Amino acid sequence: MQRLAKKWRRAGEGIGLVPTMGYLHAGHLRLVREARKRVGKRGKVVVSIYVNPTQFAPTEDLSKYPRDLKRDLKMLRECGVDVVFTPEDSEMYPDRRPVPAGFSTYVVEEKLSRTMEGASRPTHFRGVTTIVAKLFNIVQPDVAVFGQKDFQQAAIIRRMVRDLDFPVRIIVAPTVREKDGLAMSSRNKYLEGDLRRQATVLRRAIEMARATVKKSKRIPLARLKADVGAMIESEPDARLDYVEFFDPESLVAVAEITSGVQMALAVFVGKTRLIDNERL
Ligand code: PAF
Repeated sequence: MQRLAKKWRRAGEGIGLVPTMGYLHAGHLRLVREARKRVGKRGKVVVSIYVNPTQFAPTEDLSKYPRDLKRDLKMLRECGVDVVFTPEDSEMYPDRRPVPAGFSTYVVEEKLSRTMEGASRPTHFRGVTTIVAKLFNIVQPDVAVFGQKDFQQAAIIRRMVRDLDFPVRIIVAPTVREKDGLAMSSRNKYLEGDLRRQATVLRRAIEMARATVKKSKRIPLARLKADVGAMIESEPDARLDYVEFFDPESLVAVAEITSGVQMALAVFVGKTRLIDNERL
C-alpha cells in the first residue's frame, strides 16, 4: 500500500483516505463520496477496513465486532473506490502477542482524550491515534475523511495532525441517520427486537435538549443533564453512560447551556453502547 501511495504521489495524484472498521453502511459511503469530491475524478480514493484491536479494552466487543468483507467490497466497488486496504493484525502490529511484545510505540493525545469516551474507555483513543497515524504513514493521504458521529475522535485526530505536523487535511462529514433518527453505526446490528426502538432515545434526548435551548436561551447544566438522564432511563433497557455539553472547539465543558454548545452522549441499550452528538 505504501509503495502504491508513493507511486501515486510521484505521478501528482491526490489521495483521499476513509479509515473504517468495516461492516459498512450509508454513513461510510457518505465519507467515501466526500473523499471523491475532495480528490476529484483523477485522484485516488482509498478505504481502509481494519478492526483495530488496540482501541478495544479486553472487556469490549472486539471478537464479535460485525464483519462482512465480501459485502463491504461489493458496496465499495459500486461507489468507485480505487483501493480497499485490508491489513491483517500481523501486518499492523507485528509480534504484538502476548500483548504487546514486539510493538511498543503508541501515539497519545493528552488533553482532549481525557473526557467522555476517553473517561469511559481509558485506552480507546491511544489505540485510535496510533492506528490512524499508521494509516496516514502507509496511505500518505492529502485528505482523510471522518464521521461527525465520532465527534471527539475527529477533534483528537485534528489535534494529532496539528501537533505532529501530518501533511493531511481532515474533513468531518455529517452523521447519516436512519428514518427514525438513529445515527447509523455498525453496532446497530446488535439491536434486536424492541432494543432497536429504544435506541432512538439518544436522538430524542438531543431533540429535547435542542427544543429546551430554543425556548429558554440559557439553561443550568444540572437541570438539562437531569432531564436527559430521566428521558434515557424511561426506556426499560437504556442506561446513560454520560451526557456532556461542551465547547465544540476546545471540548471544555460549559456551566450554562446556550445555543451553539455541543451535546454528546453515550447510552447502553441492552448490552450495546451507542453514542451520538449534535450542536444545539
Ligand atoms: O471510527 C472508526 O471506525 C475507527 O475508530 C477508525 C478511525 C477507523 C480507527 O480504527
